[in-house]
Amino acid sequence: MSFSIGASGTGIGPRRVMEGFGERVDGKAFDWRVVTRLLAYLRPHWQRMAAAFLLMLIASALTLVAPYLIKVAIDQSIAEGDTAGLARIALGLAAVFIGAYLTTAGQQYLLSWVGQRVLATLRTRLFRHLQALPLGYHDTHIVGVTISRVINDVAVINELLSEGLITLVGDVLVLAGVISVMLSMSLRLALLTFCVFPVVLLATYLFARRAQVAFRHTRARIAAVVGDLAEDISGMRVIQAFAQEDVTHERFDEVNQANRDAYIKAMSLSFVFLPSIEFLGMLATGIVLWFGGLAVARGELTLGVMVAFLAYVSRFFQPIQELSQLYTTMQAAMAGGERVLDLLDTRPEIADRPAAVEMPTIAGLVELRHVSFSYRGDTRVLHDVNLVIEPGQTVALVGPTGAGKTSIANLVARFYDVTEGAVLIDGLDVRQVTQHSLRRQMGLVPQEPFLFSGAIADNIRFGRPRAAARAMEEAARLANAHAFITALPDGYATEILEGGVNLSVGQRQLICIARAVLADPRILILDEATSSVDTVTEVLIQDALQRLLAGRTAMVIAHRLSTVRHADLICVVDGGRIVERGRHEELLARGGLYHALYERQFVDLVTT
Ligand SMILES: Nc1ncnc2c1ncn2[C@@H]1O[C@H](COP(=O)(O)OP(=O)(O)O)[C@@H](O)[C@H]1O
Ligand SMILES: [Mg+2]
Repeated sequence: MSFSIGASGTGIGPRRVMEGFGERVDGKAFDWRVVTRLLAYLRPHWQRMAAAFLLMLIASALTLVAPYLIKVAIDQSIAEGDTAGLARIALGLAAVFIGAYLTTAGQQYLLSWVGQRVLATLRTRLFRHLQALPLGYHDTHIVGVTISRVINDVAVINELLSEGLITLVGDVLVLAGVISVMLSMSLRLALLTFCVFPVVLLATYLFARRAQVAFRHTRARIAAVVGDLAEDISGMRVIQAFAQEDVTHERFDEVNQANRDAYIKAMSLSFVFLPSIEFLGMLATGIVLWFGGLAVARGELTLGVMVAFLAYVSRFFQPIQELSQLYTTMQAAMAGGERVLDLLDTRPEIADRPAAVEMPTIAGLVELRHVSFSYRGDTRVLHDVNLVIEPGQTVALVGPTGAGKTSIANLVARFYDVTEGAVLIDGLDVRQVTQHSLRRQMGLVPQEPFLFSGAIADNIRFGRPRAAARAMEEAARLANAHAFITALPDGYATEILEGGVNLSVGQRQLICIARAVLADPRILILDEATSSVDTVTEVLIQDALQRLLAGRTAMVIAHRLSTVRHADLICVVDGGRIVERGRHEELLARGGLYHALYERQFVDLVTT
C-alpha cells in the first residue's frame, strides 16, 4: 500500500515531491532485522543497560511482594492480634516501597543516560552520512523531511531502545509473576479472575491492528509538516513578495490538520482501548470481590488472600496497558528505524573506490573527454563535450542560461560523475582519486554564494580555518572585499545572519571569492562569480583576478565580457555542447553565437 501525503491544492510544496518519492506507511510491526541492527547502538553501553535490567528485576519483584505482605498482615498478625508482627510487616512494606522507589528511579536515570547517548550517536552518524551523500542525493530529497528523519524518527527509535525494551521485559515478568502467584494462592479464584482474559486479548488485538496503521500515518504526516514548514520559512521572501501568505497558510493548514487528524485518530484508539482495559480490570475486581467474598464467608478462603488478590488484579492490568502502549511505540520505532536505516544504507553514488589514490599536487591540466552527462533518468544535459585546459590557462565558458555551463563545472569538481566519457586532471581520471584529496586542491565560487552564520572572517577562513589574520585580509583585498568589510561597524567580526541576508548578493560573492582565494587552490572554478556586483567593482575584481588566476588553472563561467576577454580560450556552450571555441577576437570575427551573445549581453559593459 502506498499512501499519499495530503492532497495539494496548489500543486506546489514538499508533499507533491514526497508522493513522487513514495513515502510509505506500510510495514511490519516488528522486524528483527531492524531491531538487531538498532540494538547494536546499545552495545557500547551494555554495562549500564545490564544495571538497569537488574534494577528492573528488583523493582518487579518488589511489586509482587507487597500484596503478599498485606496478606500475611491480615491473615496472621491482624487475625491473631500480633501487633509486634504487624509492626514488622508494616516496616517491611515501607522498605519494599522505598526499595521500589529507589530502584525505579535508578533504572530510569540509567535508561535516559544511555538513551540520550544513543540518540546523539545516531544523529551524528546520520549527519556524517548525509555529508558523504553526493549532491545528486540532496537534489532529490526534501530538506525538511530529512530533518524529520534525524530529529523525529531517531527520537522514537531511542524510546524503544532505551525505555521500551526494558519495560517490555519488566512487564512480561510482572505479568507472569502475578499470574503464578495468584494461581498458587487460590487456583479457583485465579481461574475465575482470568475469565476476563480472552476479552482483554481480543481488545488488545483489535487495538494493535488498527493502531499500527494509525500511528504510521501520524509519522508520515509529521514529516510532511516539517517539510512544508522548512520550505515555507526559507521561501518567506518570495511568499511575502507575491503576497501569497494566504495560499501558503492554507497549504500549511492542510498538512497541519492532516497531521492533527491522524494523531487524534491514533490517540482516540488509545482513548477507547485504555478505559476498556480499565473497565475489564474493574470487572475482574468485581469477580474477586463476589466469588472471593463468598469463599471467605464459607471459610474456604482467608480474608488476606482475597485482599492480596484485589491488589494483584490491579497490578495485573497495569502491565497490559503499558504493553499495548509500548506496542505503538514499537510501531513508530520500526517505521522510523526502517527509514533511518534506509538512509544509512543509501550508498553514495559517488564514493571513493577501494583503490582510490591520493591526488598528487595538481599541476593543473584539466581534460574532458567525450563527456556526456544526465543528472538523472536519460535527459542528457551534456553531449560529447571535449575540452583541454592546459596548466595555468584560464578558460571561459559562456552561453545562454541552461546551456550546461554549471554542469560542466560540477563534473570537474566531481559533484556528479559523468554518464559517459571521463574527466581527467593531470591525466588522472577523477574517479580514481579520493574526493577529499581532489577537492582540497580545488576552489569553487558557486553561482549562488553561500555564507554560514558567523563572523565574516570565519566565512573567509572556511577553507583554511587556521589562516592568519593577515593572509585572510590579503585574500579579501584581492577579492576587492576589504573596503566594504572594513566599512561595516564590526569589520571582519561582523556577524552574518543565516543565508547572509544582511549583505547584498554582490557582497556575498566578494566574500566567496575571498574564501576561494585564501584556500589557494590549484584549480579555480568561478561560476558567474561576479554576476551580481556592479560593473565598476567587477572591473576592479578583474584586475585582482588577473593576479589571482596567474599560475592556476581556471574555469570561469561568465556572462560579462570583461571576465572573458582575457581568457586563453573561450568556449561557447549551447544545448549541452561546446559549439564555438577560440579567443575573443577570433570569435567576434566569426560572427556566430558568441557574436550574437556579445551584441545582446556584453554590450552594456563596453559602453560603461
Ligand atoms: N541538479 C540538477 N538536476 C537535474 N537537472 C539539472 C540540475 N542542474 C541543472 N539541471 C539541468 O541541466 C541543464 C543545464 O543546466 P546548467 O548546467 O545549470 O546550465 P547553465 O549553468 O549553463 O545555466 C538545464 O537544462 C537544467 O535544467
Ligand atoms: Mg549556471
